[in-house]
Amino acid sequence: MLGNFSYHNPTKLYFGADALQYLREEMKHYGQNVLLVYGGGSVKKNGIYDEITAILKDCGKQTAEIAGVMPNPTAEKLREGIAIARAHKADFILAVGGGSVCDYSKALSVSVHCDDDPWEKYYIRFEEPDCEIVPVGCVLTMAGTGSEMNAGAVITNHDAKLKIGHVFGTPVMPKFSILNPKYTMTLPKYQMTAGIYDIMNHICEQYFSGEDDNTSDYISEGLMRGLIHASRVAVNDPQNYEARSNIMWTATWALNTLVSRGKSTDWMVHMLGQSVGAYTDATHGMTLAAVSLPYYRYIMPYGLKKFARFAKEVWGISAEGKSDQQLAEEGLAAMEAWMRELGLVMKISELGATDDMIEGIADGTIILEGGYHVLNRDEVVQILKASM
Ligand code: NZQ
Ligand code: ZN
Repeated sequence: MLGNFSYHNPTKLYFGADALQYLREEMKHYGQNVLLVYGGGSVKKNGIYDEITAILKDCGKQTAEIAGVMPNPTAEKLREGIAIARAHKADFILAVGGGSVCDYSKALSVSVHCDDDPWEKYYIRFEEPDCEIVPVGCVLTMAGTGSEMNAGAVITNHDAKLKIGHVFGTPVMPKFSILNPKYTMTLPKYQMTAGIYDIMNHICEQYFSGEDDNTSDYISEGLMRGLIHASRVAVNDPQNYEARSNIMWTATWALNTLVSRGKSTDWMVHMLGQSVGAYTDATHGMTLAAVSLPYYRYIMPYGLKKFARFAKEVWGISAEGKSDQQLAEEGLAAMEAWMRELGLVMKISELGATDDMIEGIADGTIILEGGYHVLNRDEVVQILKASM
């Protein structure tokens, strides 16, 4: 049975190879002082920066920039950005990049007019914004996080060794996002496959909860099947527009609040992966890949029926003559084979985690209760050790 819920997603999307032309139209709705936010330089190399600055100039905007937003953006960088945004009196933030740039821009949007320290307010006390929010638009260059159509913003604090996500309300969602699959074609394979696994895991985090017959799960199964197919095409032929466009669109639907409707949702792979990220600064999708199988094999007995359904409906494994246990194991084996085919990192030790970090990573792992089994701290340690 679907629980009670509301659904409202205000982000307007422009999708396709010509999507950037709509930026001009969108900019008419916002103020003069635009803050352009981007990462470590990929947008300059592939020409997206030039195209965007030309449009902003044409629209008569005054533009200031925040460059160098790093993967896993930090609280320190956020504080630096607040000063730039205030000095420029920014009335619009344009994020051009991947999830890190987009998350950072959302975190900035709720911090520019806030007197408190944003890390303390939003990531320690988990308060909601009570100040004016600067509107954000996004030009996405990497498929994975779904940040382009959600209200999540993950920030890392290296001093505290914590990486924490705050899912804000709808006012923090991008006003619009421009999704051109061609932009993702300059991604290195490592980032492309990390993004693909991030998408897969977003769906799993929502799928592996609840026992009921739920429309969200049928949508999830279709998204996963499509993603697996497109990922295989894209790995062999990275310039394949059809595959890249299907991956990009799946990423958006995997985490734009749709497939969580009516579900409790798990999110423990993300909690484990984020804490690994806080210690290693590793690529988000790879941290998830490295903890996933030990976690899923551990919780499988508590959600056996769903894992058996996953094997049948997502991996196409025949149920004939098999117990749920056998089927469930075969499903996870099929996922493992696919992950290896993509070349994902399967161990946190390969991401820089060392034995002496395990206790700290466990301390930084937030334990959530929506999945098939609520872990205790010893179990978290056990899973982390199995991920080494
Ligand atoms: O910085 P540049 O030079 O742009 O390079 C980036 C970066 O090094 C590069 N890149 C991006 N687009 C490119 C490109 N290189 C060549 N061509 C392009 N078109 O890729 C690298 C990774 O970018 P990043 O933005 O860090 O990746 P991703 O999109 O995976 O974002 C990761 C961040 O999002 C958070 C993660 O925790 C992490 O901090 N997440 C946000 C979520 C949300 N808002 O809901 C949910 C996710 O679970 C995730 O936690
Ligand atoms: Zn993720």
